[in-house]
Amino acid sequence: MAYSSTDFSEKKKDAVIDTNRKIRVGIVGCGWIAEAHLISYLNCPDVEVVAGCDLVPGKAKALLDRYNLTDAKTDYPSHKEMIDDKSLKLDAISVCTYNCQHAAPCIYGLQNGLHVLVEKPFTVTLDEAVEVMKAEKASGKVLSIGFQPRFDANMQMIKKIVESGELGKIYYIQTGGGRRKGIPTPLGTSFIEKDTGGLGALADIGCYSLDMVLNAVGNPKPLTVTGYKSDFFGKDPNFYPGHPEYAEKFGVDDFAAAFVRLEGDIILDFRISWAMHMDTAGDTLILGTKGGLKIPSTECWNGSVGGAMRIFHDVCGEPTDTVVPILPSGEDLFLQKVRAFLDAIKNGTPSPIPSSQIIYNQAILDGIARSAELGREVTIEIPEI
Ligand SMILES: NC(=O)c1ccc[n+]([C@@H]2O[C@H](COP(=O)([O-])OP(=O)(O)OC[C@H]3O[C@@H](n4cnc5c(N)ncnc54)[C@H](O)[C@@H]3O)[C@@H](O)[C@H]2O)c1
Repeated sequence: MAYSSTDFSEKKKDAVIDTNRKIRVGIVGCGWIAEAHLISYLNCPDVEVVAGCDLVPGKAKALLDRYNLTDAKTDYPSHKEMIDDKSLKLDAISVCTYNCQHAAPCIYGLQNGLHVLVEKPFTVTLDEAVEVMKAEKASGKVLSIGFQPRFDANMQMIKKIVESGELGKIYYIQTGGGRRKGIPTPLGTSFIEKDTGGLGALADIGCYSLDMVLNAVGNPKPLTVTGYKSDFFGKDPNFYPGHPEYAEKFGVDDFAAAFVRLEGDIILDFRISWAMHMDTAGDTLILGTKGGLKIPSTECWNGSVGGAMRIFHDVCGEPTDTVVPILPSGEDLFLQKVRAFLDAIKNGTPSPIPSSQIIYNQAILDGIARSAELGREVTIEIPEI
């Protein structure tokens, strides 16, 4: 299955991009999402994709050849050899590896003076994220984490509504998302094996739900977590017609839930599913003292708003609800996330999606996994970086 996108170089006509200085990019991990990064870079006239690497021999070359990048170098057995090749004069890397291989290429890239755009989730564990941030701090380079929904006008509207004060003081958030049958195996098993995915639905799509609400309410620090995760569907051979062996390989969660206390007296009630006997795990609700916001979930949760939002509030003492219609999300969100990363490099401006915010997301994912394994509430402690 190839990643498809529109050619939006036409739509970017108005933006003035200095093409005198080309940013030399290498792609680490040339699987499915790497193609989305590549297409976006090809739509940026100030980028040269000069290399790619993958653990699977020939995979990087096959991807880059498909886009006529036949001069790009690809004969590297892993990220290390590509980053070590100083003849490439790399400025930046896109880390498009499976979750368990996010931290190592990020750290090695930053230690070697490269800017890094890493796919979501940031990492698998909180400890890994902290190590990446230490390397980021020592390098002074741009590290951006690939949450493209941040560029969606509807996601931005959620944040604007909260920041406007329309909802008053926020005290309770319900979020999460659900897929009825959505264990991501059509392209192989890298999402469902413990050694590659690390975490399942919790990290894969749970990170989007968390980012939607954490970003909206100003990224409060998580304090404690009571978490649960299960794997009833993932472990069932009947779940995978034609591939019963996937059940044996399944080593992550297909459902997770949690009760999280956030700084500022906010409760976060969370659930996420790759598979369940239910149409939705619920819409996102943000309750405040002056109003409540309901954000419809989508059928196949991937971090987008599922329909018109509604604000429930009193007008002249009468319960009233105001519809916030869906806004056009504008040009390709992937291009926007890549472009924002490139602009931060070129302009010396802060990372568009900084680790200092996403560390809280990661701490919650880590806390849920730890709490689920221990069977009790855990405290979240994030070391000084
Ligand atoms: N932002 C999005 O919309 C979105 C969508 C899908 C996937 N993703 C994320 O992208 C990541 C990759 O997903 P995918 O579907 O492309 O997975 P994939 O399994 O198709 O591809 C990952 C590739 O990385 C390679 N790899 C692993 N470690 C490596 C290393 N150290 N050096 C070089 N190559 C290495 C693997 O061999 C594999 O080919 C995941 O973290 C996933 O969560 C993001």
